[in-house]
Amino acid sequence: GQVERGGYKHFMLKEIHEQPGACAQTLQVLVGERGFDLTPWGLPPELLRSLSSVHLVACGTSWHAALVGKFYLETLAGVPCRVDYASEFRYREPLVPPSSLVVGITQSGETADTLAAMRLAKDKQALVGSICNVRGAMAERLSEVKLPTSAGPEIGVASTKAFTSQLVALLVLALAWRRARGEADEALERRLFHLPYDLQQALHTDSSVEGVAGELQHARNALYLGRGVLYPIALEGALKLKEISYVHAEGYPAGEMKHGPIALLDEDFPVIGLCPAFELTEKTLSNLEEVRARKAPVYVVGDGEHPRLREIAQRLVPLPRLPWPLLPIVAVVPLQLLAYRVAVLRGCDVDQPRNLAKSVTVE
Ligand code: G6P
Repeated sequence: GQVERGGYKHFMLKEIHEQPGACAQTLQVLVGERGFDLTPWGLPPELLRSLSSVHLVACGTSWHAALVGKFYLETLAGVPCRVDYASEFRYREPLVPPSSLVVGITQSGETADTLAAMRLAKDKQALVGSICNVRGAMAERLSEVKLPTSAGPEIGVASTKAFTSQLVALLVLALAWRRARGEADEALERRLFHLPYDLQQALHTDSSVEGVAGELQHARNALYLGRGVLYPIALEGALKLKEISYVHAEGYPAGEMKHGPIALLDEDFPVIGLCPAFELTEKTLSNLEEVRARKAPVYVVGDGEHPRLREIAQRLVPLPRLPWPLLPIVAVVPLQLLAYRVAVLRGCDVDQPRNLAKSVTVE
């Protein structure tokens, strides 16, 4: 009842609000006072230096975390990283080069496809790891490298705090790897400890998100656009909306819009653009200009100081200036709130969406 939901109307809303604490706790457990050294979790610096590549396997929202993780690992740690849906990885002949680390990312640690992918990686002699939210779950038992997320139990079927905690774990992995290579980014390491405050700020977008939700509630479709590290967040925003409000939504890399989705746009097809202040702001902006020219309503989650963005946005949900690795972690919060608000307005059962299970333990 209301009590176990801590006064919140739904578990999902409670868990959205728990994200500052969940990320702080994940960081505290992984890094603590010890610093960016993952020796206690089975990844000492000399082992990191000996690895040639990483492969991330996951399903659903955890797969979106993997897509962000690829940016962290390749850009910050300089290590080649591939990402697969676990259900695809397991049924092809995936190349797992010698001295690869294969990490299953899973909130529950019990998703059948993810476990099968990890077993396959083990058969191929990879070093197998997990980023998992449940201590002692099967994913951890299969792993030599166990990177815990510490988000606490997640009850809402639509994953929220487990996702942002996975991003924190992936960022810690990349920073530790970078440090092992002798190129520690101390400024970013320090900045990461401020993330819980950034997430707290992001929760304050709820009032402006409510305005967007009011306009979206009767939409039959929505397109989410993002570039770079925000493309996976466009996918995640669209997935959240689909899952709990049953509005058809797609996430797309903004630069690909002209190769298809633009044909769908008209005044009844809202577009949500992720356009914070970062190196790709102007690129995404020019895509949103094309959307406007097709008369589709544009909603922006992004740079509130940008005059042109403010002009073309029907409504703008402001995001603060942040170092790029923190952008996806913070930008997903208003999208979670948006899906939640739309679902509530449409009278949907937020915590128990139809046809979905919290963890899919059979194939
Ligand atoms: C189900 C849930 C999703 C989750 C996915 C993967 O589809 O509804 O929210 O992202 O499984 O779950 P996992 O526990 O492996 O992260």
